[in-house]
Amino acid sequence: MYFSKIVSTGAYVPEKIVTNDDLSKIVDTNDEWIVSRSGIKNRHFSEDENTSVLASKAAKEILKKINKDPKEIELIVVATVSGDYTTPSVACLVQAEIGAENALAFDVGAACSGFIFGLSVADKFIKTGVYSNAIVIGAEVLSKYLDFEDRGTCVLFADGAAGVYIERSEKGGILGEELGSDGGKGMSLTGGHSQVVNAFNGQKKEGKDFFLKMDGRVIFDFATRKAPKSITALLENAGITKDEIDFVLPHQANSRIVEVVSRKLKIPMDKFYMNMHEYGNTSSASIPIALNEMMEKGLIKEGNKMVMCGFGAGLTWGSMLVEF
Ligand code: COA
Repeated sequence: MYFSKIVSTGAYVPEKIVTNDDLSKIVDTNDEWIVSRSGIKNRHFSEDENTSVLASKAAKEILKKINKDPKEIELIVVATVSGDYTTPSVACLVQAEIGAENALAFDVGAACSGFIFGLSVADKFIKTGVYSNAIVIGAEVLSKYLDFEDRGTCVLFADGAAGVYIERSEKGGILGEELGSDGGKGMSLTGGHSQVVNAFNGQKKEGKDFFLKMDGRVIFDFATRKAPKSITALLENAGITKDEIDFVLPHQANSRIVEVVSRKLKIPMDKFYMNMHEYGNTSSASIPIALNEMMEKGLIKEGNKMVMCGFGAGLTWGSMLVEF
């Protein structure tokens, strides 16, 4: 059996930065409330670039760093819940844009756990010897789903894309995972059309049906219960102690969630990497954006072990143990 090693990372976020003060001009909120409840100060919103544009720019960045010919890419998985179209997939659009004509390309939809789920799927193709490499990207333009009259959601979510190039390896790389779903709580975070509207059923589209809606307390409770349990199970299954972990890279939803997870796990906060203050919650893009930032800052050394943990809509969660 093979392992999948992370060889390169890359990211792209839209240029436009929107501050908490900018938001307070269009919705009844303020910087103090947003920072104290979420840790978020700024976020990037796309002006005209859709999800596949962000994802393609991230993919080009990933390949440029290792001077890799796109024609050699065998698999492209894009994790997203905000694709440009229902079809074609964002992954197929990325394939065309970067010229990865020999790759298999498809999307995975698991919201804020999406990057972990996508990496897990790609890892299986590599582990079983079907492919020897893959690009996995998390990409979202969530601003197009935001209701800027709903202060409970529009201050939290944002746009961005990032990902990794993984390659077959004899050791190291992805060492373990713990993934799960709880569809029973799915309606506590929804987005997109729920109505069946057609020319023959007499239904009319309702204006706000499209937007993200969230029961923040249910999600907070879910994340602070599930993430520690998932990470504990992951480490137990891998036979690794908390002390052997160099970094925990959580989904960048909310600094208060991360603080509770740190306390429950008894893993000190200085092992947790956070950058939601600059990017907001970019759902499936948040973990790879942070990972790329850590790489570019030179924080991760060969042999370091990291736990990545995503959680969110579905509801879904996923933890993964990676050795660099
Ligand atoms: N600015 C100012 N006030 C706001 C606000 C905003 N952006 N959003 C909500 N409020 C108000 C509410 O209307 C409410 O006012 P009221 O008491 O007069 O009714 C008050 O703040 C408290 O609202 P509540 O929803 O109870 O706040 P909270 O302390 O639970 O914090 C969240 C709300 C969303 C920050 C919190 O529930 C949370 O972090 N949930 C997890 C969200 C998340 O990370 N989701 C993504 C996971 S992938």
